[in-house]
Amino acid sequence: MKILVVLAVAVAFGLLRLRRTNLLLWAGAWWVGIYVVLRFGFTTPIPASVISIYMGIVSIAILAYLSSSDDRREEVSRPLIRFMTEQRYTGILAATAIAIPALAAANVYVQMNVPLEPPFFPRTIHPASPSEITVHDNRIDIEAGDNPFRHLETSNPEEFRRHVENGRQVYYRNCVFCHGDNMGGNGMFAHGLNPIPTNFADGQTLPILRETFLFWRIAKGGPGLPDEAAPWDTAMPAWEKFLKEEEMWEVILFLYDFMGERPRAREETTHQ
Ligand code: HEC
Repeated sequence: MKILVVLAVAVAFGLLRLRRTNLLLWAGAWWVGIYVVLRFGFTTPIPASVISIYMGIVSIAILAYLSSSDDRREEVSRPLIRFMTEQRYTGILAATAIAIPALAAANVYVQMNVPLEPPFFPRTIHPASPSEITVHDNRIDIEAGDNPFRHLETSNPEEFRRHVENGRQVYYRNCVFCHGDNMGGNGMFAHGLNPIPTNFADGQTLPILRETFLFWRIAKGGPGLPDEAAPWDTAMPAWEKFLKEEEMWEVILFLYDFMGERPRAREETTHQ
């Protein structure tokens, strides 16, 4: 309970009592007072839907009380009748008559305009990599290292094609089930996974990453991700358990070759 809120409501009630307010005002005060206590009086917020149910019950209880004797009915209706019949109130009456449906309409409008959004779970898709990792007892420098076969692209294109071809074999034997025939992240297992497998065909993924970054992700998989990237367990396997180091570098060559894209150059990066 938030004592201050409850106290404020109690004090307001006390003041109204002292002034011997009209029963209609009292009823209004009870309604508002209970609403304020429910809405603001608890440290753990009460859901809006529950508050509306309570307020529905409170409204019925107050109406029952007001109409439970002739005296009370009299006392409540007198100011209302005066308000509706006396000339001097005509302006306010007209304003009220317009305001009530206008407020109801505005409320509906506001509620309908809440944009529908899926619940938000922050997940860093390309989290910062460690600066180095160990794979099969080999130290791999993620920041300064490079794909050991990349230099063959110019120096020995024939040899390079052979590695790309090996990478193709690795991909279609291991990765296609999740990452898809065309790298679209829509392999046959993809539908059951959350997060879904990375789509390498979107033109936005391979060019912004370095080959050593991909190597880290492939070698260590979902289990190797830092906390910020994994509100869910990702299904990406840690391929160091199944593939040789060369095979992991080769499948990376194949990914870039298949998409016709270039890895992000080392000079541009500090951290992904
Ligand atoms: C069981 C399904 C599955 C298989 C098989 C699989 N992956 Fe993944 N992969 C995922 C999922 C899911 C993600 C996205 C979540 C994440 O980043 O861990 C992912 C992410 C990745 C990423 C990270 C990309 C980025 O944007 O940072 C790389 C790289 C990757 N996979 C490569 C591969 C390679 C190469 C293979 C085959 C050797 C492979 N994956 C096989 C499910 C799979």
